[in-house]
Amino acid sequence: MTSSAQRAVPRRPTPQPPTPFLILKIGGSLVSDKAASDNIDHAAVAAYARQVADLARSRPGRMALVVGGGSIGHGAVRELDPCDPFAALVLTRATFDVKWIWTRELRRLGIRALPLQLAAACVLSRGRPVFADTAVTRLLEVGGLPVLSGDSLLDDSGRLQVFGSDWVTGVMLQHSAGPLRIAALTDVPGVLRGGPSGAETIADLSPDDLGIARRHLWDSGAWETSGAMGGKLDALATWARQGAECFILRGDPDAGDLDFLFRPRDEWPAGLPHTRIAPAQAADPAAAPQEIR
Ligand SMILES: Nc1ncnc2c1ncn2[C@@H]1O[C@H](COP(=O)(O)OP(=O)(O)OP(=O)(O)O)[C@@H](O)[C@H]1O
Ligand SMILES: [Mg+2]
Repeated sequence: MTSSAQRAVPRRPTPQPPTPFLILKIGGSLVSDKAASDNIDHAAVAAYARQVADLARSRPGRMALVVGGGSIGHGAVRELDPCDPFAALVLTRATFDVKWIWTRELRRLGIRALPLQLAAACVLSRGRPVFADTAVTRLLEVGGLPVLSGDSLLDDSGRLQVFGSDWVTGVMLQHSAGPLRIAALTDVPGVLRGGPSGAETIADLSPDDLGIARRHLWDSGAWETSGAMGGKLDALATWARQGAECFILRGDPDAGDLDFLFRPRDEWPAGLPHTRIAPAQAADPAAAPQEIR
């Protein structure tokens, strides 16, 4: 007879981290030549929309899409009349066009995609976005895919402010019950060392110490209105300080399955370059209110 001490001790299953809610941003630089005017590459949109559709189908209600404005968005806000408090309204129209282009593709692929005008659900209060999540929550509950973009948002004084797509990635944080992950796909594999032809990305950044990354930033063309990689770092570091795990990685229209974006980083495809910005320990999203602009 086997004594209780000899009996095999049942192995405790290793606790799996909860699957994060994913905010996937597809950068304008992947589908648009920002130096040209009103430019969008419909074939590229179609290719990325297929990747988004696969993800949305396999994880219904577990992700939102944020689309960069590209040349259409940047072109709209390049010359705004500072005397007109509603000058930024042009961005609402421009980015709605962009959202619609993406939504049309996603609908063609059978996805319940709904473009949401951020200004209808979000204002800036002391510089911080305050987001009403009723419509997004309902949409996610029915397995739909919110399609968001940069927009012009009303501030405390009644002025419309440009609110770029990198900032949009964090608006749902205040309502997020579980872990929230932001993946920003762009035309570089992360924050590069050694200039535009550099081959090495900075793999990990603390949101409280971006100095090393800033030293490696280079200037962008005059067409750029949101600070390129510098603007992205500011936005993602802000959301990381409030608890989001943020990644910058290169988009590829021919990439296969992007499902790894939902999984812990140590399960990602080997050797995939990226930059991760996350606090050493997950923070309480409600604990770190701060001005973002
Ligand atoms: N050190 C750096 N590492 C990587 N990219 C950098 C660096 N410094 C500047 N950049 C620029 O940042 C760009 C990526 O930011 P950009 O805002 O253009 O991307 P996007 O998110 O795809 O576009 P959008 O903001 O229009 O949606 C790169 O194409 C590169 O030119
Ligand atoms: Mg940008």
